[in-house]
Amino acid sequence: MNKPLIAGNWKMHGNADNAAELAKHLALHDITFAGVDVVVFPPAVHLERVVVAVANSAVGVGAQNMSQWASGAYTGEISGDMLKDIGCHYVLVGHSERRILFAESSQLVAEKFDAAQKQGLTPILCVGESLQQRQQGQTVEVVTAQIAAVINLVGIENLCKGVVAYEPVWAIGTGEVASPEQAQAVHAEIRSQLGSQGANTRLIYGGSVKASNAGAIFAQPDIDGGLVGGASLEATEFSKIAQLMVQG
Ligand code: 13P
Repeated sequence: MNKPLIAGNWKMHGNADNAAELAKHLALHDITFAGVDVVVFPPAVHLERVVVAVANSAVGVGAQNMSQWASGAYTGEISGDMLKDIGCHYVLVGHSERRILFAESSQLVAEKFDAAQKQGLTPILCVGESLQQRQQGQTVEVVTAQIAAVINLVGIENLCKGVVAYEPVWAIGTGEVASPEQAQAVHAEIRSQLGSQGANTRLIYGGSVKASNAGAIFAQPDIDGGLVGGASLEATEFSKIAQLMVQG
C-alpha cells in the first residue's frame, strides 16, 4: 500500500482565526497521524496563517486552486511559485466545483497540473462523474477521459508522480457516499489506466467522507486515503478520519 494521504478541503469556509485554530489543533495532535500524510487546503487568504500554525508539525498545507500561468498580467490569479514561496506543497486541480461552476475544461486542468509540477508543487487531480453520467453507465469513460487529458499533456510518468482523487460529483456535499465497492471499482479502473507506474500513485476517495464511513472505504485495496470536505472543518472529526488510516 502507498503512504496514506488524508486531505482536508476547507473550500470557502471560516475566517482567519478559525483557520489558525483548526490548523493548530491538528498540529498539536500530529503524533496521532503517524505514517499518514495529513494536508489541509484552506482558502487562499488564510494560507499564510495556516502555514505558521502548522510549522514544526507533520501537517502539510496546500491550495485549492492555482493559475496555469507562471506570472504576468492575470488579475486575481495566484501562481504555483507564489504558493510554494509561502510554504504550500500541494495544490488541488480540477475539483468538480471548479470544473462545473467555473467552467474549467480538462485541457485547462491539465495545464494547471503541469504548471504545479513545474513550480515544485504536488498536484492532486480531482476527477469524477455526475449522477446522470453514472446512471447512463459512463462513469469509467468520464473519469478515464479526465485523466487522459492530463496524461496527454504531461505524460504518464508525471501524472503518476501526482495524486488522483476520485470524487463522484453526486457524493460531494450530499451526504450520499459511494459504497466501498463502488469507490474501489473506479479506483481499480484508474489504477489499471496508469499501468505499471500506477502501483505507486496515490489514489484517494472524496465525497461525504466522515469518521463513520471512512473505515470501510479506506479498507479497499486501491484506496490510499481521502479528500474530505465538510468533515475536515471539525478538528476532532477530521483527526478521527486520519487516525483510521493509521490503523488500517
Ligand atoms: P464533502 O466531504 O463535503 O462531500 O466534500 C468532498 C469534497 O469536495 C472534497 O474536495
